[in-house]
Amino acid sequence: MDPQALESEALSAIEASASPAELDDARVRYLGRKSELKQALREVRDRETGMVLNAVRERLEAAAGARETELRTAELEAVFTGPSVDVTLPGERPNRGHLHLITQIRREVEDIFLGLGYEVYDGDEVATVFENFDALTTEPGHPSRSSSDTFYLDESTVLRTHTSPDQIRVMQSRTPPIYMVSLGRVYRRDTPDATHSPTFNQVESLVVDRHITLADLKGTVLHFSRALFGEERDVRMRTSYFPFTEPSVEFDVSCFLCDGAGCAVCKHSGWIEMGGAGVVDPDVFVNVGYDPEEVSGFAFGLGLERIAMLRHGLPDLRLFWENDLRVLGQF
Ligand code: FA5
Repeated sequence: MDPQALESEALSAIEASASPAELDDARVRYLGRKSELKQALREVRDRETGMVLNAVRERLEAAAGARETELRTAELEAVFTGPSVDVTLPGERPNRGHLHLITQIRREVEDIFLGLGYEVYDGDEVATVFENFDALTTEPGHPSRSSSDTFYLDESTVLRTHTSPDQIRVMQSRTPPIYMVSLGRVYRRDTPDATHSPTFNQVESLVVDRHITLADLKGTVLHFSRALFGEERDVRMRTSYFPFTEPSVEFDVSCFLCDGAGCAVCKHSGWIEMGGAGVVDPDVFVNVGYDPEEVSGFAFGLGLERIAMLRHGLPDLRLFWENDLRVLGQF
């Protein structure tokens, strides 16, 4: 090996390297562990050759160091003198999220009842069989109790099938008068379709006081329906059956789209089904330790998704949970 030839070859490679990466390559090639120079240094036998080779190594290392400083400085200069960021350019607007439609309607309903002075009660989604069925005087053989309709966690605990167990929990923990609304998820073994989901949201309202009658129920439901669907709305009641109310009714609101004339939304009847309601059965009061001679009350319950579908003309309840932003982003 000719040390002089090697040195000048290495020096020109170092000088010619145009970036820190190219310089690293040259370093590995001429000064790395497997380089010709390192090889020769390992095999050196006499002092003089050793001194010559070491001097070459030192000069090459110094040259590489100097070239590195040059390249790094040039890089920095390019950053400072090159095209700069225009901070006055309008930025890209990030997509802002918003509350889910069901949450918006839930809050709206809460506000309507807060305006009436009601307490908003947040009940557990897990209920005892006593709270969900027994205390609500649902007979032992009632179909809603079967494990094909209800999710049982064990034999005495269920995922609540409606928000009505919150009536029981509130009455057990308070003394009348009670004016409460409870909103939240409920669970049923229903097969999903356009109007059914195994999990959905309900609103429940319970009033217990002296001399409460069906007329109070109608007035409250009317106020609620007008607050949600507009001041021109009317409400009608049809007789129905629930184990825990007597008398029981289903209530409809006059169609907000056709004003009762008949259209596709109200299936040409002029009325839209809203939910179930009734005067609290005296046996329910006995089950929670109230005296039915002293107090009376009403309760009503309805599905939040159905309200949302009606108000926004949505054809399918599953749209709420499929989380397609093209749908949810509209509300
Ligand atoms: C009840 O759940 C009673 N607890 C309501 C009640 C409360 C009556 C207080 C009397 C006094 P019902 O099973 O009909 O009633 O359900 C009420 C509403 O929940 C229905 O009108 C409907 O809007 C909604 N709903 C029922 N099943 C489903 C489902 N699978 N998916 C979506 N919404 C549903």
